[in-house]
Amino acid sequence: MALRNILTEGEPSLEKRSRPITEFNERLHILLDDMRETLENAGGVGLAAPQVGVLRRAVLVLETNVAEGEEEFIIELINPEIVEVDGEQYGPEGCLSVPGVFGMVKRPERVKVKAQDRYGNFFEIEGEGLTARAFCHEIDHLEGKLFLSLADRLLSPEELASLSEDESETDSESEED
Ligand code: NI
Repeated sequence: MALRNILTEGEPSLEKRSRPITEFNERLHILLDDMRETLENAGGVGLAAPQVGVLRRAVLVLETNVAEGEEEFIIELINPEIVEVDGEQYGPEGCLSVPGVFGMVKRPERVKVKAQDRYGNFFEIEGEGLTARAFCHEIDHLEGKLFLSLADRLLSPEELASLSEDESETDSESEED
């Protein structure tokens, strides 16, 4: 595995639509393994292939809603599509490609996603709260859309400071998708 460079806002790849994945081969598996390492290293909750310069429809989301004592785990989603949404949440959202910036974004509280795994098998998965937010955020990356275009306002430096002090959920680093 190898760390890949995370592109930041202004890079053209982040504004392009990614193409479907049709070959579930070694090349894809290397990409996913590298993305896992890159996401873990960055301490984020999600990463999309275009963020590492690969315009293909693959994303990772960290499932943080786990029972006490259980490990968080990374969900691999190939060619993901949101098939159901329910409820609403409004809160701060960030992105590893827009470091240090958080904006207030409205998202569904729960989403169901249909996707393929790294071998091409179809599956459905549901997420809520931060996980639902991350599903939406990462799938937006595949359309070339950054959260900045959805944020109705950005957080002030004071709000950012209190966000990083808030240990009730996750720290500011780990909320960055
Ligand atoms: Ni992002």
